[in-house]
Amino acid sequence: MNVLVFDTDDKLNEAGANIISGIVQTSPRAVLGLATGGTPIGIYRQLAADFERGMFSFRNAVTFNLDEYVGLPEDHPESYHSYMRHHLFRHIDLPDAQAHLPNGNAADPRAECRRYDELIERHGQIDLQLLGLGHNGHIGFNEPAHALTKGTHVVELAEATRKANARYFLSLDEVPCQAITMGVGTILKAKKILLVVKGADKADIVAKALQGPITTDCPASLLQTHPNLIVLLDRAAAEKLG
Ligand code: F6R
Repeated sequence: MNVLVFDTDDKLNEAGANIISGIVQTSPRAVLGLATGGTPIGIYRQLAADFERGMFSFRNAVTFNLDEYVGLPEDHPESYHSYMRHHLFRHIDLPDAQAHLPNGNAADPRAECRRYDELIERHGQIDLQLLGLGHNGHIGFNEPAHALTKGTHVVELAEATRKANARYFLSLDEVPCQAITMGVGTILKAKKILLVVKGADKADIVAKALQGPITTDCPASLLQTHPNLIVLLDRAAAEKLG
């Protein structure tokens, strides 16, 4: 595992954007796993700026997002479809047909999970999977549990996760109770994983995830088993690392 700690948000975002664009520069047909949430917004902003300067093209790349809420219309401002359009896709040249997210409105969510896994498999391995970290150690929406699921599945969101995400909605009641998420098996199959964590409120869980026991109670701790894990932290998030 390669842990890099940054003094400024700008430097961290630049490093994250460089890792992602580096993959697309060396392999224009790269398959990228993308994340949403507050953490990657600065990285996406930097990527959009670098794209504007002509540094790379996403024309032949393919993306798979980790997750989507169940039951939000795609054009709801807080759907992850809207998030990706707003923060990244509208700024770059990735063709719509090559940008994949689970369909949270599928009539048969389980069939949708199978479809998503098959689609990922058809594209071979994910070259780089970008991840944020939940306060409870979740990655994607793989919440702490006695057992974790390998492939894409429907998940009941933990109350803590709904509360953390309520900041984006008018009230907690509006936060969906379920999501479709890639499974931990799919995440761990990626060739390279880029975990990004910011803020003092994540310092405890960063230490648990990276240096604690490997346990399904902290899904991110499974990342310790990955042979090619890069972790970008700001100083505050790195505070409790030994
Ligand atoms: C997002 C995702 C989640 C977030 C995590 C951290 O697609 O799968 O695991 O990465 O909840 O969210 P933020 O960055 O908002 O703290």
